[in-house]
Amino acid sequence: MSDTTTETHNTEQVRIFDTTLRDGEQSPGASMTLEEKLQIAEALDDMGVDIIEAGFPIASNGDFEAVSEIARRAKNAVICGLARAHEKDIDRAAEAIKHAKQSRIHTFISTSPLHMKFKLQMEPDQVYEKVISSVTRARNYTDDVEWSPEDGTRTETDFLYRCIEAAIKAGATTINFPDTVGYAVPEEYYEMVRGIIENVPNIDKAVISTHCHNDLGLAVANSLAGVRAGARQIECTINGLGERAGNAALEEVVMGFATRADRMPYHTNINSRHIARASKLVAGAANFPVQYNKAIVGKNAFAHESGIHQDGMLKNAETYEIMTPESVGIKGTSLVMGKHSGRHAFREKLKELGYDLGENAFQEAFTRFKDLADRKKHVYDDDIAALIDDEIHTHEDAIKLVSMSVVTTTEGTHRCDLTLSIRGENKDVAVQGTGSVDAIFNAIKKAVGGEPRLVHYGVDAVTGGTDAQANAHVRLEMDGRIASGRTAEPDTLLASARAYLNAYNRLLVERGHAAQGAMAG
Ligand code: KIV
Ligand code: ZN
Repeated sequence: MSDTTTETHNTEQVRIFDTTLRDGEQSPGASMTLEEKLQIAEALDDMGVDIIEAGFPIASNGDFEAVSEIARRAKNAVICGLARAHEKDIDRAAEAIKHAKQSRIHTFISTSPLHMKFKLQMEPDQVYEKVISSVTRARNYTDDVEWSPEDGTRTETDFLYRCIEAAIKAGATTINFPDTVGYAVPEEYYEMVRGIIENVPNIDKAVISTHCHNDLGLAVANSLAGVRAGARQIECTINGLGERAGNAALEEVVMGFATRADRMPYHTNINSRHIARASKLVAGAANFPVQYNKAIVGKNAFAHESGIHQDGMLKNAETYEIMTPESVGIKGTSLVMGKHSGRHAFREKLKELGYDLGENAFQEAFTRFKDLADRKKHVYDDDIAALIDDEIHTHEDAIKLVSMSVVTTTEGTHRCDLTLSIRGENKDVAVQGTGSVDAIFNAIKKAVGGEPRLVHYGVDAVTGGTDAQANAHVRLEMDGRIASGRTAEPDTLLASARAYLNAYNRLLVERGHAAQGAMAG
């Protein structure tokens, strides 16, 4: 693959199975709209992901629709749908992936004593029978079937080997070995994968896959240990998104192989120059900001602050950099656009940043760009990315901000006058609060009429300077459901109001993730 930084000579390929849209989307508050999922799937396909787990079709109509649309559109990747060991799950997954050029059904059932007894309330023999019947049913739909023993790393080995052997006999072509609760340590995970290879007689008929959660911060280390033991597929997510502490991060695995080919002689099909763009896309869609010091994609991953380091970098970048920012698609910040930039330049800039918008979306984005350029002298690449991601993010919102005025005095008055358009009808309110943000959030709650609980509120700057756009993040909880919202705006209070509304809109959208309650992650 062109541009890739992964050394491919004389090395074995490790397949990259991305589950950002399934396990990643299961993180509380990370749910995405159909449009966002389609964009991410396209980016994953373009970057060279081998298998995209596009969702869990039985979970909701939204999940089904997303998997089926991704299946229709995918150019190269195998499109996979997840299914429990139930007939209706498998049938629904098969229906969702049927238009894919290449499709896979991933079916799973818990095999650990703890899960079988308390979660499934089934005897091991019943679970064993389900392994056979579920894989057999999935094989009636596609030749590419993956089977997972959920909570695999806490499963008794004899039972684990018996189930894997039965799954392969029934037609499974990939055996995934989940560390569902992120409990394993690398040497142990290595030995467990070796145990599978040495004790399952027909294991040569399947590819072994890793699926490691990050509860102890060991997801990537465990995945790499699995590969060293013989696994040839890694399940991972962009930015390490996923249940609880997340999954193994795709970018870390890929750059690990690319950078340390001397110790890890494997390659992937990923074009690493697409990593930064995919990371931003996922962080924006899922409303999960990337921690500043996150490996590979954090804001500080290539920043050199101390004088000694800067001096070394100027003399030779290799003094403190083990990979180049360019190799993961990070370009130097460029001051590119301003209020005199026209449509053509803007279209070219979007292309350079990796956006491919339809005509209507382009026109709307251009209007917002002009508006921003009128208010902000320097418009950087990050400003444009934030603007486009906002557009994708908020254009389906049923409740929109029409106007807002906030008055704050040293005497302690904080008042917000607000007009919202709620499904096309305007509603005006005026509310006081203990501070400006409190007044704004109370005003929105009063206008909409619900009582969501604020789980998180934060603001950071998109770029440097006092005229930088404020990036506001809000996470709300209502009736046991969590939703996140984000908006970038030159004004902090407006950004906060829009982010709150964005989260509120998402809370109000019926997503019906009912079946996901049955999953561990
Ligand atoms: O963590 C897990 O066990 C899972 C399975 C569905 C593979 O996500
Ligand atoms: Zn998982």
